[in-house]
Amino acid sequence: MKRNLLFVFAGVLACAIFMMAFTFADDKSPAGVITLQIGNPTMTVDGVEQPIDGDGTSPVIQGGRTLLPIRAVIEAMGGAVEWDEATQTVTLTQKSEVVKNGGVTEQIANSYSARAFMEKEVSGSDIETILKSGAKAPSARNTQPWHFTVVTNEALVTAIARGTLPGCAAIVVSGKTEEMVGINVDFDAALATQNMYMTAQDLGLGARIYTGPVQDINENKREELAIPEGYDVISVIAVGYVENIADAISGASPRNSLDDIVNYVE
Ligand SMILES: Cc1cc2nc3c(=O)[nH]c(=O)nc-3n(C[C@H](O)[C@H](O)[C@H](O)COP(=O)(O)O)c2cc1C
Repeated sequence: MKRNLLFVFAGVLACAIFMMAFTFADDKSPAGVITLQIGNPTMTVDGVEQPIDGDGTSPVIQGGRTLLPIRAVIEAMGGAVEWDEATQTVTLTQKSEVVKNGGVTEQIANSYSARAFMEKEVSGSDIETILKSGAKAPSARNTQPWHFTVVTNEALVTAIARGTLPGCAAIVVSGKTEEMVGINVDFDAALATQNMYMTAQDLGLGARIYTGPVQDINENKREELAIPEGYDVISVIAVGYVENIADAISGASPRNSLDDIVNYVE
């Protein structure tokens, strides 16, 4: 395969112009907006026209699918593309950082808040695995001051977790209201929430954390959701299958650079 002719399936499009908007917090200033046009060997990167490559490569629609020159796109985004002839493998690297240990670091690097849920039922066994991860979270003095409510009722899930569709589930995380010296219930509940958010993604599902609906649930939906007495709702996690292509394009918001958020004391 020729290096500059690496294409990926990017979605079925009726229109001939494909626009992607990505932003990254990076001092290499990767592109904010990249526009490619079917049959056009130039692309626009942040308003500046440039050749896709030196070979006249242009996006095409093949078999109803839009194929984009991945190298040009990834490099404009500040990433890198490597082609290994021996193993016929393409490796895409964001911002030239390869995080590949098959473990939690790689999972965190690839995690994002689900955007495009699908209408497909999440299995009970997946939900149980997610709940076990929540229950495994560390907590101050091991008080485990949380309660999890699994909501699968379609109307309720879509009411409390924006963007979900039938088949998605919502896990409502509540924390004990009792005052306990040295215990910050919100903090412990947040750790349980994050464990469940990550495990859902490890299972191939999408997940999104919400605190927007918390006040409304505490004030108006406690009975409907059977929130136990002595607990207040702290977060909601939506889990469901996601439309991978749409999520891959719009997923993962930019993060501040370490230069802006870290100081070292040596
Ligand atoms: C504590 C917390 C509360 C959040 N509340 C909401 C919410 O109410 N509605 C929503 O759509 N997303 C909510 N989110 C999702 C964030 O918008 C999302 O995590 C953030 O934009 C980063 O996106 P990314 O992980 O895809 O990069 C929440 C996330 C957290 C951690």
